[in-house]
Amino acid sequence: YECSQFNTFNAKERYPMPNTEKEKQLAAEASVKFVKDGMVVGLGTGSTAEFMIRQLGEKVANGLSMTGVPSSERTANLAQELGIPLTPLDKVDKLDLYIDGADEIDAQFNMIKGGGGALLREKILAYNSKFNVIIVDSSKKVESLGKFRLPLEVIPLAHKKVVDQLIQLGLNPILRKLDNSEYRTDENNFILDINISGQKNLKDLNTRLLEIPGVVETGLFLDYVNVLILGRAGDVEVTHVNRN
Ligand code: 5RP
Repeated sequence: YECSQFNTFNAKERYPMPNTEKEKQLAAEASVKFVKDGMVVGLGTGSTAEFMIRQLGEKVANGLSMTGVPSSERTANLAQELGIPLTPLDKVDKLDLYIDGADEIDAQFNMIKGGGGALLREKILAYNSKFNVIIVDSSKKVESLGKFRLPLEVIPLAHKKVVDQLIQLGLNPILRKLDNSEYRTDENNFILDINISGQKNLKDLNTRLLEIPGVVETGLFLDYVNVLILGRAGDVEVTHVNRN
């Protein structure tokens, strides 16, 4: 189940499209308009989120008063470099807003996240936010999820047992590696990337995955999106999602 190098970090390699970077940037620009003075804002992780964080940094330099809650060490470092004030999640009640990217989003706004390895903290922030804005380039929009492998964060000592269970379920797990050793999350866990293509009932799948002892969290984000901002060919499409 192991592969020597599993690179899930470079969206351009996954979907080589000339406009991808521009689309990410446009979606990110549109998302920072949701940030108002005094807000506590959850900061996502990844290349699209990075565009958003850089734009927030400029706004803060120009007088915007806001506090960020980072979804990863990588994001925390960038925000600090840019002078964005940060606070830990347990010092705030709820986030006013969470802005993040996604690896795939389907027609029902279900998402796969965690390509950048930050799925656990990302889901904690999204869950504890009053409002979630997702920013993507057009390559992320799919009819049904599963071309991208679903990341699972797992406890290292249990990972072989989890792999056995996942193989039995036909989900073909791959242990994520970086520079020839196991990739470690910010929580020091491993990631198994599984194949969920063709799975019809995502809610049921998510429940079954979380029932395996050793699985800490899945990158399936079901029912989290309030606004989707999709960059497409020099413009953005903004969709407000009714989540009742
Ligand atoms: C990180 C994530 C990212 O949101 C996802 O991987 C998208 O990244 P990018 O904006 O670089 O395409 O879930 O854990």
